[in-house]
This record gives sequence, C-alpha cells and structure tokens, in this order.
Amino acid sequence: TANRDKYRPLYHHTPLYGWMNDANGLVYKDGEYHLYFQYNPYGSVWGNMHWGHSVSRDLVHWEHLPVALARDTMGHIFSGSSVVDKDNTAGYGAGSIVSFYTSASDKNGQIQCMAHSSDNGRTFTKYEKNPVLTPFDGLKDFRDPKVFWYAPEEKWVMIVSADKEMRFYSSRDLKDWTYMSAFGDGYGVQPSQFECPDMVQLPVNGDVNIKKWALIVNINPGCLFGGSATQYFIGDFDGTKFVCDTKPEVVKWMDWGKDHYATVCFSNTGDRVIAVPWMSNWQYANIIPTQQYRSANALPRELTMYSEGKEVYVAVNPVRELESLRKETREIPAFTVEANKAVSIDTLFAGNDGAFEINMNVATGESSIAGFQLVNGKGEYVDIYLDLNAKKLVMDRVHSGIVDFGKNSVPHEKEAHDNRIANSINYVDDFALATWGPLSPAQEHTLRIFVDKCSVEVFLDGGKVAMTNLVFPNEPYNSLNFYSKDGSCRINSLVLYKLGL
Ligand code: FRU
Repeated sequence: TANRDKYRPLYHHTPLYGWMNDANGLVYKDGEYHLYFQYNPYGSVWGNMHWGHSVSRDLVHWEHLPVALARDTMGHIFSGSSVVDKDNTAGYGAGSIVSFYTSASDKNGQIQCMAHSSDNGRTFTKYEKNPVLTPFDGLKDFRDPKVFWYAPEEKWVMIVSADKEMRFYSSRDLKDWTYMSAFGDGYGVQPSQFECPDMVQLPVNGDVNIKKWALIVNINPGCLFGGSATQYFIGDFDGTKFVCDTKPEVVKWMDWGKDHYATVCFSNTGDRVIAVPWMSNWQYANIIPTQQYRSANALPRELTMYSEGKEVYVAVNPVRELESLRKETREIPAFTVEANKAVSIDTLFAGNDGAFEINMNVATGESSIAGFQLVNGKGEYVDIYLDLNAKKLVMDRVHSGIVDFGKNSVPHEKEAHDNRIANSINYVDDFALATWGPLSPAQEHTLRIFVDKCSVEVFLDGGKVAMTNLVFPNEPYNSLNFYSKDGSCRINSLVLYKLGL
C-alpha cells in the first residue's frame, strides 16, 4: 500500500522491488543512459547478486527493464562497468556494449568476467572463456573492474580494486589483460578497503590546457562518520601508472554525508562527467525502514575540477536535467534573521509530499551560527547550519524522525546485515548523528538542497561541498525555521520549488 511505501523517493532512482546497491556498468549510447545496478530480485536485503537494469533519456525519468545479467553457476554478479566498443576491438561488432563484472563465489573467489550486448544493452551474452582476469597473487578482495579507453595509446585500461590498492591493467581487445601498476597502499584514510574504482580526466577551472585525473576510490569502512564513503585522489596518468599530486595522508572527500557510496561515472558522455552514487551506508543499508525495496541512488551529479591554492578538487553539482522537475515556484523576499529570533516559513507547499528543492543565498553577517530546520507537523526536524567559528557546514539528523529502526528489523534482515558487516553496530548512534563539511571564510554562501521523502542532499557554494544523508520522518517536512546566534544573518534570496516527475 501507499502507506507501506511512504519513503519511496519521487525523483530518485529506486528498484521496483527487491534490493539494490552499487550502480554498475553506467553507459550512454544512442540517447539512452543505462543504469545497471547490484540487484537482488528475490528479497529486499543483499544476496543473489544480479545486474538490474533501468534506462533513461534525461537522467531523471527511469524506465525499468528486465535483469541484464543474472547470477549463474560461477557465482554472484558483482559490480563493474561498461564501454561502447566503437572500433570493434573485441570483435562483437562496432558499437557493441561490452560490460565487465566480478564473478564472486566461495569456490572461485573474485574474478573478472566479460559480457557483450548487440541490442543496446537490453540483453547480454557472457563470454564463453570467462574469466578474463584473475588475481596474480590469489588475493581474496579483487573486484569491481572499471574499463575505459586511453586514447593516446589506443588501448583499454582496467582498474580493479585489490584490497588496499587499485591495480591497473591494459588490453587491445578487451579479452587479454596485462598488469601495469598499482596505486594506493597507504593513501587516504587508514585503515580502509578499496572498492568500486573510477578514474576521470577533467580540465581544471574549465581550462582545457590544464587537465588532471581524479581517481575515485570508494572505501568501506573509512567514512568520517562511520561506514562507507567516497574519496578521490588528484594526479596524473601516463597510460601506465597513476601518480598522486599529494602526500599519502591527504584525504579528499567527494561527499561529506553518510549516505554516498560506490560512486562511479557514465562512460561515453563526451566532455561531461556524470556520477551516480548509491545512497546508503553498509552500516545499516539492509535494515532501513522500507520493506518492498531497499535503497535509492543519489541524484546524478556532474563532476568538474577547480583549484584552490596549489590543490585541485572535484566540485559536485546535481545535473542540470533536474531543473525539469520544478512544478511550482515560491520566491521569498530577502529577510533578516535576528539573533535568537527565529523566522519561520510555514506550509512550504500545499499538498507537499516531501519532494522539493531549496535554493538560497546567505550573508552570514555577525552570526556565529546561521541555519535553519526542515520541520514537519510532528516536530521532527533536520538541522542544517553554518558554524562560522568552526568553519563548518553541518547537517544534523538526530531529531529527523525514525532513527532507531535497527531495533525493529526482522531476523532475515539482521542476518543479511551481519553477513555484510563483521562488527556489530549501535543502530541509534550510527544513524542518529550530525555530519559536517568544511566552510570557506567567505561572507556569503549559496546552498542548494534537494529533499525527496527520505533524503536530503546539500550542495554548498557551487558544489565545493556536497552532503548526502538519509532521513526517515514520520510525515514530510513542510516548513523552514531560520535562526541565527550571537548576531543577525540575512537571507539574500530564497527560492523553493515543488518537484515532481
Ligand atoms: C560495494 C560492493 C562491491 C561489490 C558489491 C557487491 O558496495 O561491496 O565491492 O562488488 O558491493 O554487491
């Protein structure tokens, strides 16, 4: 019933039923974005991994298609990637979609396999000589192949996550792979387990003469706030080896929330780099309070690069296609928020079903804390604020609604949970918390916030900080409560959009 499905997002991609984790095999071809994903069609907890399949022409409206790759006698179909083989290097025909995934089983371990499609990604034929790649050292955690074309040498490159490092291989025909190099041991957050690699090249500050590579490394555990998260390394790639610009201990986060993982990008999108994160965290993904399906993907995001001093960073912004969702607009005239005198904007939208966007510009003035709460009729709220002394953007979900859902999970959910996570978690402490990201010393900040029933995604100052968190309110948030501490701040602009498909 609608009631049981009350947390299903309106404009985020979800599976129709069953369990979903990582986005897989993201590829654009002939006007279609293919979103494959880790999928269990037999239950809404992790298990029996297949590649589910959805397709979209605009990254916003998704059509559900039949399973693309089903689990077979070799094992689970774990995460991976797809390419369009324009020059027919593999011999399946120019323009075939060729996909790579990890076959995982106790018997064979984790080995890389290939499949191809000649009908625009609808159906796949698995390669009869699979696997195409096994670990040279018998490594147990060896998975999530990312394949891309390296134009300067006219060859394919595959990156495979191998425990605490990423291993790089090359091939001319997508079938024979040669080891080239490894990167990562000792880099970034410690300790961590590398998963789901991707690597993209982008101009820095829009200057096509200065390009850098970002190696995307999803790690679990290692998140600042516990569980899984996405970090990246900026550097150079000469076709053989990735060399990082920074010292091993430098950590750059793609998102500062707790529900952003397994982020990988579409292939074949020209100059655009579009990433799709899975919007959950392995700490509690199997026990979140939805029943007939579990997990959504976060909004597709466009990645760009900018520099600050000597450092290069990735900026993360929701794709412009999302603007087509705006159904109603409310523009609120500029206003001042005096210290300790809250300003509340009630009833954001009549018939608000919890799907909206907020755009604002804040002049922080004399305030020490400038923020607002997203509030519902039950008094539940998400607190989002700029801490001007600590120089932090904070999102606090302690009072956001249901936060202790782990207590009510049924035995098979607990079991799926425990199979994935070795250490037990404290459900309340791991979910009910605040996350924070860095805030620049500027006097003015822009915030773009997307709410969709059970998620809040914040993009600060043009995407310099992105923060993605799940929330489970008992009814939709429908008012904003602005506040300021120690001095006043000013909301220079505030525009609200009701969103719908
Ligand atoms: C990441 C991950 C991958 C693996 C897949 C299995 O979330 O653990 O490393 O391929 O999920 O479902």
